[in-house]
Amino acid sequence: MSGKILEVNNLNVKFLSSGGQLHAVRGISLCLHQGETVGIVGESGCGKSATAKALLQLNPRYSTETSGEILYQGVNLLALSEKKMGSIRGKEIGMIFQDPMTCLNPTMKVGSQIMEGYLRHFPHASRKEARQAALETLEKVGISHPEERVDSYPHTLSGGMRQRVMIALALACQPKVLVADEPTTALDVTIQAQILDLLKQIQKSTNTSILLITHDMSVVAKMCDKVIVMYAGKIVESATVDAIFADPKHPYTQRLLKATARLNQPKSKPLISIEGTPPNLSHPLQGCGFCARCPDAMRICAINPPPLLEVSSGHLSSCFKYDSRVLKNG
Ligand SMILES: Nc1ncnc2c1ncn2[C@@H]1O[C@H](COP(=O)(O)OP(=O)(O)OP(=O)(O)O)[C@@H](O)[C@H]1O
Ligand SMILES: [Mg+2]
Repeated sequence: MSGKILEVNNLNVKFLSSGGQLHAVRGISLCLHQGETVGIVGESGCGKSATAKALLQLNPRYSTETSGEILYQGVNLLALSEKKMGSIRGKEIGMIFQDPMTCLNPTMKVGSQIMEGYLRHFPHASRKEARQAALETLEKVGISHPEERVDSYPHTLSGGMRQRVMIALALACQPKVLVADEPTTALDVTIQAQILDLLKQIQKSTNTSILLITHDMSVVAKMCDKVIVMYAGKIVESATVDAIFADPKHPYTQRLLKATARLNQPKSKPLISIEGTPPNLSHPLQGCGFCARCPDAMRICAINPPPLLEVSSGHLSSCFKYDSRVLKNG
């Protein structure tokens, strides 16, 4: 595996409001190597997007408190000025959002939007060069007749095409890291498969590193080398994709995989989700966040937060079931 490109240490994200604070991301650490795809999975509200946005400092500036370290090629992004951060965003780290319409400008031709981003990062390039880069990127993301589409407005394109344009926008400056937040959730299954194949193919040709956020374990299986499972703002398990599917350790991951397996069964079977709801992130958490929903919970789980332990080589799980000290004392 090639070198480390992104390293996150003890990241915390708090959203502040007059009513108090919501501690959305609670001390997570992760690592992304060159050419690697790491998935982040977890239920709605567990802090996946807050994490992704923190990497590019896209959470609302005045109501978010972010702490920890985000090292991109060894440089702590959290210590950079907004101006310096602007030169990282899009150029070094690109982002693909779930809903293309939230980041595509409806009043601007798609080609002009790609050119605008390109010229921001390559100010000495001519408009002709920028247009050429836009055409090449549109072609790369599988848009046929790019010389016609380049002058289209987003609303004239299909959902799949818009998603491709957004990927083109994220790729135009050839970022080394791509953060993709549910890039295919809004699309139907066939288009989803095409977009995922496209991301894989681009990654292969450019050695891009991808942080892929999804709630879909089948997307993880198809795309990722490693996976991080988040629950209530924390990492509860992380391992290679093979290890997670073959031997999930955390009771939450085990249930997440069971729920996915049921989803893949014939429609006549009832849809089963994980019972209960995650804790309210506006309150401090005592013990393990999954405790109230966990069939394996022990007394200590409601009292102390479980440490993230290495249960086998490179496989981490945050559960007292694997803590030898707890097991010894019953
Ligand atoms: N800008 C914000 N201001 C206040 N609270 C926020 C903000 N953004 C997110 N939150 C809250 O932070 C928590 C984590 O949200 P986040 O968007 O990261 O979840 P998620 O894991 O991406 O969920 P989903 O799968 O639904 O996209 C949620 O409780 C959410 O309501
Ligand atoms: Mg999200």
